[in-house]
Amino acid sequence: MDDGFLADFIAMTRVPAPLRTAIAAFPGSRIREVSESAFGRPGIIPLWFGESDRETPGFIRDACGRALAEGKTFYTPGRGIPELRQALAEYLTKLHGPQVAVDRITVAASGVSAIMMVMETLVDPGDNVVLAVPLWPNCADSIAMLGAEPRRVALRPNHVGWVLDLDQLFDACDHRTRALFLNSPGNPTGWMMPAEQIAEVLAFCRRKQIWLITDEVYDRIVYGRNTAPSVLDIAGPDDPVIAINSFSKSWCMTGWRLGWVVAPPGYGEALAKVQEFNTSGANTMAQHAGIAALKQGEPFIKEIVEQYGRARDLVVQRLGGMARVRLVRPEAAFYAFFQVDGMNDSLSFAKRLVAETKVGLAPGIAFGPEGEGWLRLCFAASLGKLSEALDRLAPNLS
Ligand SMILES: Cc1ncc(COP(=O)(O)O)c(C=O)c1O
Repeated sequence: MDDGFLADFIAMTRVPAPLRTAIAAFPGSRIREVSESAFGRPGIIPLWFGESDRETPGFIRDACGRALAEGKTFYTPGRGIPELRQALAEYLTKLHGPQVAVDRITVAASGVSAIMMVMETLVDPGDNVVLAVPLWPNCADSIAMLGAEPRRVALRPNHVGWVLDLDQLFDACDHRTRALFLNSPGNPTGWMMPAEQIAEVLAFCRRKQIWLITDEVYDRIVYGRNTAPSVLDIAGPDDPVIAINSFSKSWCMTGWRLGWVVAPPGYGEALAKVQEFNTSGANTMAQHAGIAALKQGEPFIKEIVEQYGRARDLVVQRLGGMARVRLVRPEAAFYAFFQVDGMNDSLSFAKRLVAETKVGLAPGIAFGPEGEGWLRLCFAASLGKLSEALDRLAPNLS
């Protein structure tokens, strides 16, 4: 590196010595950019982040308190405490049918940490991972951060929902493709991949010997059914399948940073290696709380999904009546992702909206170039709050 370049680089990154180029080049979160533009202003209704406005239920917090009181404050085995892995094996087997054995499960310090670790075990610089987009940005960014290529295949909206063209997905794969990454139910779209498509994708991955990574963090936020179709309904332990999940959404545990990975038994060793250098294992008290969530959490999931279902109806009905809005009804998850007529800079628009209406929404560009022209509203909030937010938004969107 010559000195002039080094000086420019340091000036650009505004740090006193160079960073990794891949990191310096990252734009940072566009959602945070909107929220920071309104930092400290009173009266904001925040619907920009992907989390419920409900606290973690008491029985889960109590389990954490008991673990603390009992002195469970030490490091845990890298892949998680045996009781939590066992509880996950039982929970997943019950949910999906085919047995999910304990040796396939690794506990992670959040869903996002699980995604990063999986990428760290799979991709070399120059490899690619094919993803269905628009998509929560961290999935593609974790691939780019490692010098690999996130290869984007666009979901298309039609009058009933979002559609993934499997021919396009398969055509995007080449000899450097290490994995297909599918997030269903999807953030930000609310797309839910049909079981038949999952079966076709699995058959393709078996044939081509590439990994199928599924991000299933919204699997329980589904309406009129118990869980979303999952590759775990049909895959066995020897399949090239990695299913990522989290406690954040199903049990309102975003702040706890707890997730898990289901993978073939041998893969656990690779995950344990990378986990060692990332977190050396998930938070001990949180792991004990996770057992309570899995064993006693079904009534709570039912309750929040009923609430989100009513919120979805309200938001779809109200946004649907606004002249500039084109909305695809979300099949699952807790987001309304909608296109705004005449808006071509969603970042500026979202900043203006929060300044003028005090309603915080996520700009579609945060989810990749395919999201430009769109906004995302998280409806995991009380009906009163949503109603007020929609009243405030209406003049700008009509
Ligand atoms: C699609 C998707 N995957 C993974 C995550 C990560 O969840 P967490 O890191 O809170 O477990 C999120 C969070 O918003 C998400 O939307």
